[in-house]
Amino acid sequence: MLLIKNIGILMTPVGKSALCGKAQAKNLKLHNAAVAICDGKIAAVYKDGELPIIAASDTVIDAQGNLVTPGLVDCHTHLVFGGWRNHEIPLKLKGASYLDILKAGGGILDTVKNTRLMREEELFLKSESFIREMLANGVTTVESKSGYGLDYDNELKQLRVNKRLNEETPMDVVSTFLGAHAIPPEYTGKPDEYIDYLSERVLPEVARLKLAEFCDVFCEDSVFDAAQSRKLLLRAQKYGLKSKIHADEIEAIGGATLAGEIGAVSAEHLIATDEKGMESMAKGGVIAALLPATSFYLGKNYAPARAMIERGIPVAIASDFNPGSCPSLNLQFAINLGYIAYRMFPEEILTAVTLNAACAIGRGETVGSIEEGKQADLVIWDAPDLEMVCYRFGTNQVKTVIKKGEIIE
Ligand code: NIG
Ligand code: FE
Repeated sequence: MLLIKNIGILMTPVGKSALCGKAQAKNLKLHNAAVAICDGKIAAVYKDGELPIIAASDTVIDAQGNLVTPGLVDCHTHLVFGGWRNHEIPLKLKGASYLDILKAGGGILDTVKNTRLMREEELFLKSESFIREMLANGVTTVESKSGYGLDYDNELKQLRVNKRLNEETPMDVVSTFLGAHAIPPEYTGKPDEYIDYLSERVLPEVARLKLAEFCDVFCEDSVFDAAQSRKLLLRAQKYGLKSKIHADEIEAIGGATLAGEIGAVSAEHLIATDEKGMESMAKGGVIAALLPATSFYLGKNYAPARAMIERGIPVAIASDFNPGSCPSLNLQFAINLGYIAYRMFPEEILTAVTLNAACAIGRGETVGSIEEGKQADLVIWDAPDLEMVCYRFGTNQVKTVIKKGEIIE
C-alpha cells in the first residue's frame, strides 16, 4: 500500500460523468485527510485524522498539511509537432492576425512543413519531453491531436507517436484524429475534395489500426465550413470515432450548433459562440472545452464561461498547447485565467480541469476524481488550498505527482 497522510485539505469533484450548472461547483472537501492506494488504484479515502493500519512494507508520504486534488487532465492539446513559430512574432507585431498568417500559407501550414520533415523517432523524442514537463506540472492525462501531417503518411506518423507516448511514458495519452485541421497545399481551394480524401483514404486506416478514439475538425471561416465538418464527423462516427469540434474560435460559423446536433462529446474554443450555439450544446449534452491561454496569446475575447455554466453546459478547461495559438503547456496558467478571465469559482475550475476534462476525452469512469476504485492519479500541491492554486501564477505550485500509484520524480 501507498499511503498519503496529513493532507490539509482534499478537494475533488465526485462521480463519473460531467458536472454542469450548480453541480460544477460541488466538490467534496475533506480536512485532515489521507488516501490509501493499492495496485495503482485508490483503495480508501479517510478524513478527520482517521488512518488505516500501516504495515512495515507500506510506503507513506506526508503531505505536510498541503492540498491534494485529482491529477489534472488536459483535454485539448496539439503536442506532436515539428519546429516552432517564434518567427511569426514580427508579422504579429505588424498587425497580421492568426487567420491572415494561415491564409498566406504560414501558421498551421508552416508547422505542417516542419512536421512532415521530421522523422518519427525525433517527433517522439520531442513530444516525450513535453509529456515530462506536463507531468511535472501536475497533468496526469492528456489528449493529443494529429493535424500537422495532413496526408496519409504524416497523419498516421503523428498518431503512432501518440500511441507510443501512451505506451512508453507514465502519462495516459488519448489520441484524436484532426486530419481536417487545415487545407494542405495539395488541396488548396479544394476543401471538399480534401474531406473526401480524408474520409475515403485516411479515416478507414486510422480506425482499422485503432490509432484514435476521437475525430476533430477545425470548423472555421476559410478552413472547413459546418457542412464539410458534419460530413467528416458523421463518417468518423460510423467508424467508431467520437466527435470533437474546434468551434467558433474566431468566427461563429455554426460549429457549436453542429456539435449539439451530431452528439459531439465536446466543442472546443467557443470564443465567439452565440446564443443559438449554446442552446444546441446544452440540448445535446456537449461539454465546452475552453482554452483561455489561447485567448490570452491571440489577444482575443474570452469564451462566455459563466453564461455556459448558467445554461447547464458542463465546462472543461484545457491548455490547447500548440506552436501557433498557444505555445504554453502550463495548465496551471489556464487555471489562473479560469478565475481571472472567466470569473469561475475555484471549485468550478477544479471540476473543469479534472472530472469534466476527463469526460471530454472519454475517461470519466477511470480518472478525474479521488474516489475508491478510480486510478490513483493525484497531485500534492505546494499550497494549502485551492484558492492559492488559482491565485498565484507563473510558478509551478505542484509538489508531488502520483500516477497510477507511482511517485513521478
Ligand atoms: O486550437 N485552431 C486550430 N488549431 C490550434 C492552433 C494550431 C496552430 O496554430 O498550430 C488551436 O488554436
Ligand atoms: Fe486546438
